[in-house]
Amino acid sequence: MEDKIRWWVPQIGDQEGKYIKQVLDKSFPNEGELAALFEQKISGLLHCKHAVTVTSGTSALFLSLKALGVRASDEVIVPDVTFIATANAVEMCGAIPVLVDVDPRTLTMDPEAFKRAITDKTKAVIVVHVSGRATDMESIISIAENQNIAVIEDAAEAFMSKHKEKYLGTFGDAGCFSFSAHKTITTGQGGVVVTNSGDTHIRLLELKDHGRRVRGTGGDDVHNVVGYNFKFTDLQAAVGLGQLEYLNSRLERMKKTYCMYADILKNTVGISLFDFDINGGEIPQWTDAIVEDRDGLDQYLSSRNIDCRRYWHPVHTQKPYIQSDHNFPNSTRLSPMALWLPSAFTLSDADIQRVSGHMLEFMKKRRTI
Ligand SMILES: Cc1ncc(COP(=O)(O)O)c(C=O)c1O
Repeated sequence: MEDKIRWWVPQIGDQEGKYIKQVLDKSFPNEGELAALFEQKISGLLHCKHAVTVTSGTSALFLSLKALGVRASDEVIVPDVTFIATANAVEMCGAIPVLVDVDPRTLTMDPEAFKRAITDKTKAVIVVHVSGRATDMESIISIAENQNIAVIEDAAEAFMSKHKEKYLGTFGDAGCFSFSAHKTITTGQGGVVVTNSGDTHIRLLELKDHGRRVRGTGGDDVHNVVGYNFKFTDLQAAVGLGQLEYLNSRLERMKKTYCMYADILKNTVGISLFDFDINGGEIPQWTDAIVEDRDGLDQYLSSRNIDCRRYWHPVHTQKPYIQSDHNFPNSTRLSPMALWLPSAFTLSDADIQRVSGHMLEFMKKRRTI
């Protein structure tokens, strides 16, 4: 049997240790100087004014909604194709997630479906840049601005991915990133919210730290508003700072992986990769495809020691959000055909050739059956 190829592999290298040692030597594992340095690096990389670290991508979404004034019974529009955390973050606020269909070319929110779903109760929209592919931000923002709707970007899968010369996550009122294990950089769990608004920045600081704007002793502090504890730690920041040192090589590898798949699999009947605008700066964190016999291909690759990841079920088919398929023709048709191909930045050219070769073989066998 050939070596295992996994669809994703988190990697911790030599760099994280030196930062972790600094934290341990100072005996200050809570959120402090290293978290501030990590925030500074993130806002610098994404060319935005503020970055606020938090415990996860999900809490980044929750805190952004709260910071932008979403309250119980408000409606928040969410695409039907996303990791369920996007809808759950709306629920965490006591607000109502309103699911809408996606554009079949990108699996990101369809701006027309967004427009149709707006009511008097719509307070915000969360777009999701699936796999690192940009949502049509020009259309979404122009519709939202007209109706005074806050725009939150779920950029959990789009760290450092650009659209029209600007980083995803920096188009709307707040951009949310995740540093869980399947992301371009990981801190185990963790996340960050970026924003260019000074007011939103202050609200985020209060909300993530018990309502305090400035950390005090924990004793005689002033708490002017209700807040929670979603603080990052310097231990996580230490891992994140180390991870950033491999960022460029990871981004290059992910682009190359996509380009190799796209080249080898082009014109293959039954498989079509989702497009990425590599020259425009989009980063395919995960390469994904629509496959005619998705489950058959997945099983075939698995029998050859190659792991893929099947797409999420559309949110409207999950029990807490169950609805009829009627309003979701694209997500209903495409999610069961969508597959993430092995995309780890640890893969070699030979690995991509091996995966693609088996895919071609499977499609050929299917055609001759
Ligand atoms: C699109 C999307 N949104 C939200 C999340 C949630 O992030 P986290 O797992 O860090 O809470 C993820 C990550 O899995 C994601 O892919």
